Amino acid sequence: MAGGSEMAGEEANDLKRTLGPWHLVTLGIGAIIGAGIFVSTGQAAAQFAGPAVVISFAIAGVGCFLAGLCYAEFSAMIPVAGSAYSYAYATLGQFFAWIIGWDLILEYLAAGSAVAVGWSGYFNALMTEFGVRLSPAYTTAPITIDAAHNLGFSGAIINLPAAILIAGITALLIVGIRASATFNAVMVVLKLIVVVLVIAFGLFYVRAENFTPFIPANTGTFGEFGWTGILRASGVIFFAYIGFDAVSVAAQETVNPQRNMPIGILGSLLICTVLYMLMSFVITGLAPYQTLNVPNPVSVAVGNAGPALGWLAPLVNIGATIGLGTVVLVLLLGQTRIFYAMSRDGMLPPMFSRVHPRFRTPYLGTLVTGTSAALLSALLPHDLLIELVSIGTLAAFVIVCIGVIVLRYTKPHAHRPFRTPFVPWVPLGGVAVCGAMMMGLPLSTWIRLVVWLFVGLVVYATYAARHARPPKWSIVNSPAE
Ligand code: ALA
Repeated sequence: MAGGSEMAGEEANDLKRTLGPWHLVTLGIGAIIGAGIFVSTGQAAAQFAGPAVVISFAIAGVGCFLAGLCYAEFSAMIPVAGSAYSYAYATLGQFFAWIIGWDLILEYLAAGSAVAVGWSGYFNALMTEFGVRLSPAYTTAPITIDAAHNLGFSGAIINLPAAILIAGITALLIVGIRASATFNAVMVVLKLIVVVLVIAFGLFYVRAENFTPFIPANTGTFGEFGWTGILRASGVIFFAYIGFDAVSVAAQETVNPQRNMPIGILGSLLICTVLYMLMSFVITGLAPYQTLNVPNPVSVAVGNAGPALGWLAPLVNIGATIGLGTVVLVLLLGQTRIFYAMSRDGMLPPMFSRVHPRFRTPYLGTLVTGTSAALLSALLPHDLLIELVSIGTLAAFVIVCIGVIVLRYTKPHAHRPFRTPFVPWVPLGGVAVCGAMMMGLPLSTWIRLVVWLFVGLVVYATYAARHARPPKWSIVNSPAE
């Protein structure tokens, strides 16, 4: 991530305003493009939507657009780290802030693990290109979910590459290495080159028979193909858009946020939506969708096109291996910021905001984040993780959208450097589209969310509610008032 203060707390107002619209767009694309398009597309097409996964990407893009406009208003208004957690504190109070902070662990920590698992799939494919065959027992999760979403065992022992990646990134975060603006720009260009090459060359080799039928008939079960399958797939691949809120985190460092925040958020979302729709069209056109439920669907689809695209598959594996690693870094960094903000408010033990004397990073919180993420990525499969991430993040988006409406009534005179347009319609639209995507997700995923929130309630009652103190920041009124 470009610029920024790791410790953006009360001091955040002192950050220099240096970021222009293009910085924000690259920041967004760098955080967004990752395992969603490179892994989940194939799984969602094979299991839920077939080639119509293209429509799922459009639906999820619209939901993110609407929620993104709401994020932009809050982020320009509340100059602190902590993202939706802090926005909820400002609008809906301590209890909702806790719930959303707990929920965001799914967005950042579990998403970091999910992308690491995606990374592992492409890393293995790359190793195979070099003639190194890693044993599936040590590169696959021991836990699986079947088509009916029941948990089972795969017979594998551990996904070691995913856990090692997270351990390495945790070490980088502890010593305070952050992706600089230049590094971020290089990553964005690399990912875009891979995506554009797949689209540009793949388009010539798509086969009409792979698109027939474009919307496979529903099997009789909700969420398995047909329109309910498209909805379920949109809830799953929604994961691919997560990360645009990284743009909102940079609000206090943005020149003219009123104009540039929406350009950053909406620009990066628009570019990713178009690329995602084209990419999913090409992938499902290159190979029968039934064959895409693999850890590396993009290189498998490209490989299916025959020798003419033989040169592209290794490039995809290299691009994904490098590009996905940086997404893990951004997500885990986001998690440490949220833990930091919650700890500063007394909601989590002080160790989460204890800063290392030399590295100036919240090293203990980072260690807890990294250890938990490494365990999740070592044990759980990608599809289980992303469904959890998607439902958790969608719930956070719904609360942020509602928060914008609430705050317009409770604090009408607050200084809003960026105002969400057409309130309450844009936030209500966000609630409707994100809510619909949540509805599309399976009952078992809902049950996991409820269990997770229940555990959160227990922690709230036994720790957070007893130690919480009012945040050190407050919303200021508009100078004109
Ligand atoms: N949007 C990010 C990805 O797809 C989380 O990897």
